[in-house]
Amino acid sequence: MSYSIAIDGPAGAGKSTIARRLAQRMGCIYVDTGAMYRAMALYTLRSGIAAEDAQAVCAKCREADIEIRYENGEQIVYLNGENVNGLIRTEAVGNRTSRVAVYPQVRRKMVELQQKIAKNSSVVMDGRDIGTCVLPDATVKIYLTASSAVRAKRRYEELMQKGESCDLASIEADIIQRDRQDMSRETSPLRQAEDAVLVDSSDQNIEEVTETIIALCRQKGCI
Ligand code: DC
Repeated sequence: MSYSIAIDGPAGAGKSTIARRLAQRMGCIYVDTGAMYRAMALYTLRSGIAAEDAQAVCAKCREADIEIRYENGEQIVYLNGENVNGLIRTEAVGNRTSRVAVYPQVRRKMVELQQKIAKNSSVVMDGRDIGTCVLPDATVKIYLTASSAVRAKRRYEELMQKGESCDLASIEADIIQRDRQDMSRETSPLRQAEDAVLVDSSDQNIEEVTETIIALCRQKGCI
């Protein structure tokens, strides 16, 4: 049976970690849609245009060739033929991404690409609008969240591990700002789909959340 598992939620809720594990357990592909928007944001950063310059961003979007490939089970994002996986995880790119992701032209292009991937394979796909817009008929829909304090602390620990200097208060402020941006945009804002199951990871570890979702997938016959 072919299936799709949609995981939406705010930044830092653990979507990518959980989605990657689920895909491994279920033997399907993991589609990280944020990486596609990040590649688009990187393109605009490199071009030196302002995120608020709608015309310039949309022109760049038309000429951006964003492609997803799987190499050794890992999703690689190509921007005009260049592997940009190592360049899209910075705070600068992350903060710009939510501002570039507001444009309907940008969203339309990414959604088309995401739908095409899900049409050809079973997927675990994470993002902000997967259950509400990209895959409205997904087999399982999860809205994964956690308090902003918990999410900031996780991000802080991740950055410290990488040896990057950072400040917890400003990370939480950035997270709150990004949530606001993602939830208030006009085109497909971040919200829980009516038929999505709410999972709060504030007091649950990765294993527990994964098991909760696996149980839901079993109920729906994906496993
Ligand atoms: O999941 P992430 O942190 O890599 O996402 C980066 C930004 O991309 C996020 O602030 C909102 C945007 N995004 C989106 O608007 N829709 C998606 N399906 C995925 C990400």
